[in-house]
Amino acid sequence: MPDSLKIQFASLSAETEGVVVALVGSDLAVPPRAARLLDKAGDLVERAAKADGFKGKPASFLDILAPEKVAATRLLFAGIGKGDGWSELDVVKLGGAICGRLPDAATEATIMAETAAGPLSADQAADLALGLRLRFYAFDRYKTKKKDSDEGVRKRTVTILVSDEKGARKAFKAREAIADGVDLARDLVNEPPNVLFPTAFAKRAGELEKLGVEVEILGDKELKKLGMGALLAVGQGSARESHVVIMRWEGGKDGEAPVCLVGKGVCFDTGGISLKPGEGMQDMKGDMGGAAAVVGAMHALAARKARVNVVGLIGLVENMPDGNAYRPGDILTSMSGQTIEMINTDAEGRLVLADVLWYAKDRFKPKAMVNLATLTGAIMVALGQEHAGLFANDDDLAGKLSAAGLATGEKVWRMPLTAEYDKLIDSQFADMKNTGGRHGGAITAAQFLQRFVGDTPWAHLDVAGTAMNSIKGDLNRSWGGGWGVRLLDRLVADGYER
Ligand code: BES
Ligand code: MN
Ligand code: ZN
Repeated sequence: MPDSLKIQFASLSAETEGVVVALVGSDLAVPPRAARLLDKAGDLVERAAKADGFKGKPASFLDILAPEKVAATRLLFAGIGKGDGWSELDVVKLGGAICGRLPDAATEATIMAETAAGPLSADQAADLALGLRLRFYAFDRYKTKKKDSDEGVRKRTVTILVSDEKGARKAFKAREAIADGVDLARDLVNEPPNVLFPTAFAKRAGELEKLGVEVEILGDKELKKLGMGALLAVGQGSARESHVVIMRWEGGKDGEAPVCLVGKGVCFDTGGISLKPGEGMQDMKGDMGGAAAVVGAMHALAARKARVNVVGLIGLVENMPDGNAYRPGDILTSMSGQTIEMINTDAEGRLVLADVLWYAKDRFKPKAMVNLATLTGAIMVALGQEHAGLFANDDDLAGKLSAAGLATGEKVWRMPLTAEYDKLIDSQFADMKNTGGRHGGAITAAQFLQRFVGDTPWAHLDVAGTAMNSIKGDLNRSWGGGWGVRLLDRLVADGYER
């Protein structure tokens, strides 16, 4: 049975059903609709709170069995602290936390989107719903048996009671498009590499055509003709064909320069001849997390009919050791004409991006270009899994990304690009080498990419720590969280949409 979460909106006067959720602050004041539901059991909250030590703190819950004659199976009170000064992200996270607290058996739930101070706005109610959607996702396609420890039921209807039904429904439309994009990216990251090899990935990206996205899929032959010698070298040890997929959404003005979103799509990274150690190698099925985020963002933008021109480009390869694999010492000629000496075949992502970035810049002359890549382990040493590394040749674009990160919770932290770091990738045999030595590994990788973007305003997000984040939180309960989709959507919405 496929997972499903149905979210609907109804009026605050509608009947309640199943587990009923109410929002209470630290004063423990019961909101009007909840008070009406409790009727004669009105002092129940106060008594239960006392017994439980519940003080209405944010992210704390009071869970009680509903008394007889109350139209609910259980009552769940979600703490909201003072309940003022809520940011958009606070409300989304509250929705996620509620989703995580709904009892496993709850197939029906009702959330009263109201505090003692009054009803939530339509946008806030929709944000709450977005949080529920984000938290609900699980990847269990390949599990034939269910364990008791698995969180949540897989079929659930949640009704959110609001004061402005129509407004909430409308506000949720765009958020639903975004949540669908996030779930799509998550599926792509989670799928095993025997299923999601480059051609299969390209095919899934091709499904965006249903939403009005124009999709071109290039294969080995076309890439060779274009001169993508760097990208092709990475894929040459694999039995699978390499691809570049170009996804165009034209919701903006005719002929207006697009924003380009570029993703690293290494469907599996063994390291190649510079083979990685075995431990943890299975995680390298997620080395296409950047490409997944780009596809997810294209889905979100098209599904919510964003008024902007955007082109998504992903480089899809598999990095394998083989008799035909590329070697350390090889010198490749990239599409730009620049030559690259291989030092380590495990520094493959930058080779893929070198050609795709150059191609994007050359063909589309974008007004801005952002790439996402699970590029270096070094960025995790620097920033852990909380922030993605941000490298940019343009302060305005960097500022927009930082703001989008704070608004969505997909945070970025700016790192330096300078001529001194750039020098570290000069080669004695070619124009450059593909690694820059032990120190500043995330920075020299970014310097490498910068050599392929010309003057285009460009930002590189090193998402090695965030795209496969295994930290569970309010909005995520599994490995491979679809990081970057909401960030990119927000960047476009606030920075480029007309
Ligand atoms: N895909 C890896 C980076 C990575 C590591 C992502 C761990 C997520 C988790 C990348 O292709 C890689 O292997 N980078 C090397 C570069 C080195 C050879 C210069 C690295 O970080 O060790
Ligand atoms: Mn690698
Ligand atoms: Zn890689």
